[in-house]
This record gives sequence, structure tokens and C-alpha cells, in this order.
Amino acid sequence: MQDLVRFGVSMNPQLLEDFDRLIKRKGYENRSEALRDLVRDALVADEWAQDTVEVAGTITLVYNHHVSGLSEMLNDLQHDFHQALVSTLHVHLDAHNCLEVLVVKGPAKQAREIADRLISVKGVKHGKLTITSTGQRLT
Ligand code: NI
Repeated sequence: MQDLVRFGVSMNPQLLEDFDRLIKRKGYENRSEALRDLVRDALVADEWAQDTVEVAGTITLVYNHHVSGLSEMLNDLQHDFHQALVSTLHVHLDAHNCLEVLVVKGPAKQAREIADRLISVKGVKHGKLTITSTGQRLT
């Protein structure tokens, strides 16, 4: 295990109280682990803000496969970006609705563009990009 560095943090008492309530509800055992996760989350967000950094994430889509041409359009787009879309999960939610989860990995700018292109297709009921990291730049 890497050495840990201790540092002091000054904080408004009310803010600290709110933070403690939050991390207790989320199940953290102590402030340090909660703070480490917040820092990692900020670092991941910063990776996504930089165009050329390699990132990983998931794009979730919900759509009605009966909508004319929609499945084909989404399929065509996925083939256009096949190098960055490394895996796909398709779930038939009911007789009409499909859920797809696509794993995207590549430069942040391209990953954002792929998500925007897919989510904005007419007929997609809901789409969400979840950003995470390749893990290579996180400790
Ligand atoms: Ni389906």
C-alpha cells in the first residue's frame, strides 16, 4: 500500500455536519475515504473535460424498436464508431421498449460526441452518458 499523507482541512461547521450526514447515509466508514472518492470523481470529470485523454464510460439508451428506422439508425451509428464502442448490452424491456448499454472507450472528445450523436437521435426516449475512467490515471 502506498504511503498516505495527512493534511488538515478547515471547514465551516455546518458544512462539515452536512458532509458527515451525507457520508454516513452513503455508508462511508470515515471522512478520508469519502474525501478520496470525491477527489477521484473530480479527477475523472477533469479527464472528460480534456479532449485527448483516453476515457471510459457507458451510454444508456431507451427506445421503442417499433419506431420506423430507429433501430437501423442506432445500429448504423454504432458501426460508424465501432472502434470506440467496445461492448453492447441489449435488453428487451417489454414488447416495445429496448434498453441498450454501450461501453465507450477512447479520447474524451470522441466519446462525448458519440454519446451526443446517439442520445439525440429522434425516437430515443431517454439517454444518459455515465462517465468513468480507464483507471490508468487514478490511484
Ligand atoms: Ni429489444
